[in-house]
Amino acid sequence: MPEAALLPDGATLREAPADPGPGANDPAPGPCPGTEALVALCRGLAAGLGGEVALAGLHRFPDGEAGVRLVHDLAGRDVVLAVHLHDPDPKLLPLAFLADLCRDLGARRVVLCAPYLPYMRQDARFRPGEAITSASFARVVSRYVDGLVTVDPHLHRHPTLDAIYAVPSRVVAAAPLLAAWIASRVPRPVVVGPDEESAQWARAVAEGAGAPWLVLTKVRRGDHAVEVSRPDLAGLAGLAAAPEARAGGQASAAGWGDRTPVLVDDIVSTAGTVVRTLERLRAEGARPAVVAAVHAVFAGDGWARLQAAGPAEVVTTTTIPHATNGIDVAPALAPALADLLAALGRA
Ligand code: R5P
Repeated sequence: MPEAALLPDGATLREAPADPGPGANDPAPGPCPGTEALVALCRGLAAGLGGEVALAGLHRFPDGEAGVRLVHDLAGRDVVLAVHLHDPDPKLLPLAFLADLCRDLGARRVVLCAPYLPYMRQDARFRPGEAITSASFARVVSRYVDGLVTVDPHLHRHPTLDAIYAVPSRVVAAAPLLAAWIASRVPRPVVVGPDEESAQWARAVAEGAGAPWLVLTKVRRGDHAVEVSRPDLAGLAGLAAAPEARAGGQASAAGWGDRTPVLVDDIVSTAGTVVRTLERLRAEGARPAVVAAVHAVFAGDGWARLQAAGPAEVVTTTTIPHATNGIDVAPALAPALADLLAALGRA
């Protein structure tokens, strides 16, 4: 839910004032429980943008309708709505209300900062009659904001966000952040992408970390059922960096040498993909793999299933709050927001 709005052109970091008056049905002006990560994101963005933080309140009326409230002077200001948009459905309407409220209160521009952009995986009509919800979601969001900044949206069949979003956007790449983390924490890594769609991230991360990389083949048979292929170490990209793999031919413990596989993916949802890949790598003689993912969706019991699969370590970015968050994206988001706001100012 959009509990926070960020004002980038103020001078100081200042919390929204205490509730100025009574009102039994008024949303609380402070953060709702569990929003510490969102407040931390806003503070990180404010620090990078030289802005201030204003916290909006979300109230659920007894009948389930939403009310939003923001006690702040927005006249002539640019507003960044920072929102963690996993589990998006209950948040979308409050987000629209908050964007409208910002304009009602005099905001000049309203830009969405959604570090995780949902609905991007439904990017084609996979079965007759299916909705292409990535495009529908984009149309709704584009109606309410002037621009969008996100981290590694799942662009596969849509070439760019411009293909579906009617407002300008900036995309922050998490690969350099993941690569730096791997380079500093994992000795002799081999970057492994579980499927063709992960190849773009696996390659970028491997190149940034100076590591060899390979991509497996995945067949998805349902929401919770996936199969992954055997790794072909003979075809390992960046072979010169892994000479032991050259002699290995078929995957084997000898083929892995003393390398640690680092499983890289953009989204971990049910965790079926990473669990099957961990099992496959283990069966092929690899030591326990590190998992480095961008978006910690962890639907249902996904996190428990991943833990049970015995990874050496799991790290994710702060695009979605989770216990595995170890890579902060706020420092990379702030310049992208500044660039987008500057471009909107010139338009
Ligand atoms: C798909 O192409 C994505 O890159 C991820 O591999 C996928 O979304 C992971 O989903 P799950 O965790 O449910 O297997």
